[in-house]
Amino acid sequence: MKSPKEVWSQAVELVSEMTLQERASLMSGSSFWHLQPLERLGLDAIMVADGPHGLRKADMAVDQAGLNASVPATCFPTAVTLASSWDADLLQEVGAAIGRECQAEDVAVLLGPGVNIKRNPLCGRNFEYYSEDPFLSGKLAAKFIQGVQSKGIGTSLKHFAANNQESHRMVVDTLVDRRTLFELYLPAFEIAVKEAQPWTVMCAYNKLNGTFCSEHEPLLTSILRDRWGFEGLVVTDWGAINDRPKAVSAGLELEMPSSGGANDDAVALAVEQNALAEEDLERAAQRVSALILAAQNNSERTEADFDAHHDLARKCAAEGAVLLKNQDGCLPFDTARSLAVIGAFAETPRIQGAGSSQVNATGIKKPLEVLRKMTGAKVTYAPGFDPELAEDNSVLIEEAVTVAEKAEQVLILAGLPPLFEAEGFDRTTLKQPVQIERLIEAVSKANPNCAVILSNGSPIEMPWLGQVPAVLETYLGGQAGAEAMADLVFGKLSPSGKLAETFPLSLADVPSQSNFNNHPRQIVYREGLNVGYRAYGGSQDGVLFPFGHGLSYTEFSYHNLEVSGQYNAANPLVQVTLEVTNSDARSGAEIIQLYVRDCEASVYRPDRELKGFQKLSLASGETKKCSFELDARAFAYFDLEADDWQIEPGKFELLIGASCCDIRLSSSVKITDEESPAHPPKAQQPYHIMDDAALADLGLHMTPPDPIRPYSVQTTLEDIKYHWLGKLLVAKVNEMMREHTGGQTPSPVVQKMQDAIVFSMRLSTLRNMSGGTITQKRLDILIHVLNGAWLRAVVRVFRP
Ligand code: BGC
Repeated sequence: MKSPKEVWSQAVELVSEMTLQERASLMSGSSFWHLQPLERLGLDAIMVADGPHGLRKADMAVDQAGLNASVPATCFPTAVTLASSWDADLLQEVGAAIGRECQAEDVAVLLGPGVNIKRNPLCGRNFEYYSEDPFLSGKLAAKFIQGVQSKGIGTSLKHFAANNQESHRMVVDTLVDRRTLFELYLPAFEIAVKEAQPWTVMCAYNKLNGTFCSEHEPLLTSILRDRWGFEGLVVTDWGAINDRPKAVSAGLELEMPSSGGANDDAVALAVEQNALAEEDLERAAQRVSALILAAQNNSERTEADFDAHHDLARKCAAEGAVLLKNQDGCLPFDTARSLAVIGAFAETPRIQGAGSSQVNATGIKKPLEVLRKMTGAKVTYAPGFDPELAEDNSVLIEEAVTVAEKAEQVLILAGLPPLFEAEGFDRTTLKQPVQIERLIEAVSKANPNCAVILSNGSPIEMPWLGQVPAVLETYLGGQAGAEAMADLVFGKLSPSGKLAETFPLSLADVPSQSNFNNHPRQIVYREGLNVGYRAYGGSQDGVLFPFGHGLSYTEFSYHNLEVSGQYNAANPLVQVTLEVTNSDARSGAEIIQLYVRDCEASVYRPDRELKGFQKLSLASGETKKCSFELDARAFAYFDLEADDWQIEPGKFELLIGASCCDIRLSSSVKITDEESPAHPPKAQQPYHIMDDAALADLGLHMTPPDPIRPYSVQTTLEDIKYHWLGKLLVAKVNEMMREHTGGQTPSPVVQKMQDAIVFSMRLSTLRNMSGGTITQKRLDILIHVLNGAWLRAVVRVFRP
């Protein structure tokens, strides 16, 4: 097995034999999922396919996009669930299993993992991302990548960078100050690149501080390659290209999917006209060739063991479920007592979210069947709500109440219906549909011995929380989620997941809320570092459940904290050890978290930041040692003047917690600097919701958002949806989409997602993805007509 780096000299040699046209031809795919082959030199059309929580290989004969049908594969729990396990080794196992399924299906690169930060709980795609914390995200992603790549399959770390909302994702300009970028939005990518070297990085659709990510030289070259040493290639998100030659010189190698050769010609022409350096094209061709050669080298075809992978999916779902509340030991339930199961998810479970990550599962377990099998006593059932509708349904609720009243224990399977969250659009509320809220209220009143089992991809409000003794957040648990849930509900296993994100009380408590999806062309990250627990610190105000929170059926005690090491600012290395004991009667696992607080900073530092975590499995009465090592980055902040990471000498607290708010042990270290020994404590400058002046102090100068009019290649279908030409275009694109997806009738959520994706498309994307139907000339004419410039349109008809 070889990585692209290991076949580099072979790639260089091959490229030296290529003509300019051949080099340019490698710059984009040959189909939606295949790279361009070069038979003369033995380069195959290797295939890439979506992940990240399972393989989504489009069945090219039926549905080229794979949105409705794809090759059966194991549907592991989605990223949010996997992350709640806080178990990096488990993610590595999952990566290896998906890698094996890729091997079996002849897929060379898996398009994942996604490590975008959950800036706001409303982002429609949060279920595909790990966390609000970059350290946790980066560590988990690195192990996942190592797992996949251990099978000789490449990965694509995505979406680089600052792609934290779905709305207007193809045109929106994310304005974020440099310090926040380096401390919050980049480190997950940085850790994954440095620790795992993904074969590819996927650049995001959006602009970052005025420039499309696909042509952002500082991002793709200065940061990714020069600072972090990235060795792989950069691929566009699907349709993210803007100006192809500009993108090549900025550091982007591969455009996906195919643009029918049009952009490759533009690249070749740019080299001929000296608008693009020949070395840039050569470098890009070498990187693409190295990727193809590595994939060809690793063409092992082993059968995947789907049964074993299903068991692994079950283990992940159990480890990722978070017991949010368990008053008076309500859970676990007793298999010998009668059980009422309420909630339509018992028959149609939500196992994943819709979008490019959606896997065609090999076998979905239904909660109702699993629960019936597992209990010796009577199980009754009422759906309680209609997952396709939002409105209140009193008949279903009354029926559920009657069923619940007669049982000794009640499980309410609720959460968010599929239509509420998916790729392509953002949520507008933290609320569940009113019918589900009312159902929980009514059923818990009728029978207080009830536990709510939640299936949702991101936080929700819980106005009913006070009425319900137990809540288990299972998130989107994959194909074996039902079995994992039953294992936890009946106490075969003890819950051990912890939240990798904060559950706010309401949207009003989310600092980014006033600057989230509030403009179709520009989003300003005015909250700076105040994202997730960084905004709330150790206080529970504004928080329903804090970051890192999760209960168990057993109890853990923390003791014997010891800190040692070297404390000089130039090269700190601090060892932290402690012991954790399972002090109750059941076995279980505990996630121990280490937060660092800078007590004497002159610049704003969040109150605490996660710098270490470990998950320990402990039998009843067992004690284990837990150890962490903190290096310079654990204490540093990104200093704008130095344009680098710096440590301010002084006192740092080390907080050992069971969550970010539940600190069990603490100690402190004094980091010293021999060159400036007397560092007086300084007052912190608070971060708040920053106005333009405060952002300017951080070097971020406001630019006006791109105008919607006059229409241009950057115009989206959303912008022109009321124009007669816009309507025609939307109809045409929908028709193409139908052809592409095999003419099947999509589910309501897939339809909603497709609509959102179609409306977010830029006119230039249509040109690139039209397979030559929409040429630049036709596009120019169309834009003139949209702008009412008929004369110009006519002139353009006659101009070559
Ligand atoms: C998504 C990517 C995905 C790609 C290919 C894009 O729309 O943003 O995450 O990998 O499509 O399906």
